[in-house]
Amino acid sequence: MVSHADILASNALLNDATAPRVAVFVGGTSGIGKLTLHALVATGASARIYMVGRKSSAERTQPFIDELRALNPRADILWTEGEYSLLSETRRICNEILLKEPRIDLLFLTAGYAPMFSDRAETEEGIEITQSLAYYSRILFVKHLLPALKAKADAPGRVISVLGGGLEIASAINLDDIDLKKPGNFGGPKAQTQYLCLNTVALDKLAEENPDVVFLHSWPGWVNTGNVHRGVKEGSVWAWFVKWLLAPLIGVVSIRDEVAKQRYLFEATSAYFGGSGVAWKGKPGVNVKGEEGKNGLFLVNFRASCTPNLKVIPVLREKAREKIWEHTMEVLGPYL
Ligand SMILES: NC(=O)c1ccc[n+]([C@@H]2O[C@H](COP(=O)([O-])OP(=O)(O)OC[C@H]3O[C@@H](n4cnc5c(N)ncnc54)[C@H](OP(=O)(O)O)[C@@H]3O)[C@@H](O)[C@H]2O)c1
Repeated sequence: MVSHADILASNALLNDATAPRVAVFVGGTSGIGKLTLHALVATGASARIYMVGRKSSAERTQPFIDELRALNPRADILWTEGEYSLLSETRRICNEILLKEPRIDLLFLTAGYAPMFSDRAETEEGIEITQSLAYYSRILFVKHLLPALKAKADAPGRVISVLGGGLEIASAINLDDIDLKKPGNFGGPKAQTQYLCLNTVALDKLAEENPDVVFLHSWPGWVNTGNVHRGVKEGSVWAWFVKWLLAPLIGVVSIRDEVAKQRYLFEATSAYFGGSGVAWKGKPGVNVKGEEGKNGLFLVNFRASCTPNLKVIPVLREKAREKIWEHTMEVLGPYL
């Protein structure tokens, strides 16, 4: 287990040599992505940071970008606009970044919300919107940016997907209807479990094929970002429930922003998870193959500790991976 003192000690060692030089944040306009971006810039290290955001958030985000520039003039913040819930847009954004960056050190993926209290809604590309944000678009970002994440042999790039790493349940995954399109298959908890399992399965495959990249699938616990309000239909009973009961409860039990921010900065930069970054002197993190001190996929809990879920992951690998990957490539195929 990693202690908070270890996390703070590691983060205090961040400088030009140990911090990511080029980072891409998809979801840095709010919540955990925004907190982490702020923490990274506050290290004072020199960095180029692509902040991918949708048009509707551009104006609201400008004061934050101004604040970041004032906080650290050596950090170059590049607002990169696009509707990344669409796969065609994700591809366009990736191409735009790749034209400028042959090498990327960090890809930080947080876009999305749980469709707990809302009906199924699809993007114009026919994909349920929260699945597109939490799964397809994320995997497409990884697929396109992989060459840049692998560009430096002695410093593997790092991918962090923030959703529900470690919470996989093999029996809960629906392999007959991976996109939960059939009547009765879609619903908040079902969708959330399905999408987090898909994340782990696909990242496990990508990690196996790309041992020169570090992958993390992280579960944040409760962080009071307002995320819970997103998947709610206005005026519904659920909206009332969330406003008056759930959100106040989350406010009480959630992890403080300052703590979450340092944990995610650690996840983005510590060699505890393999790769490069700030050297780790203690027992190294364990990946989903049960290996220590190697790269691979790490499932990480809200304390920034590894929870490799070793009873479930081999089952998913054996029984679900091929089918999920084949289906994923069919969906992503036109946008690769
Ligand atoms: N916070 C928690 O306690 C918690 C717990 C478990 C899992 N998670 C998951 O972890 C991830 C990060 O959580 P968070 O709390 O940091 O999330 P958040 O702040 O609510 O949102 C993260 C990002 O998602 C983007 N987004 C939301 N809806 C969108 C849409 N329709 N189209 C395009 N972008 C959209 C937001 O963009 P805008 O700024 O433009 O709105 C924001 O940048 C999410 O997938 C969340 O479901 C969170």
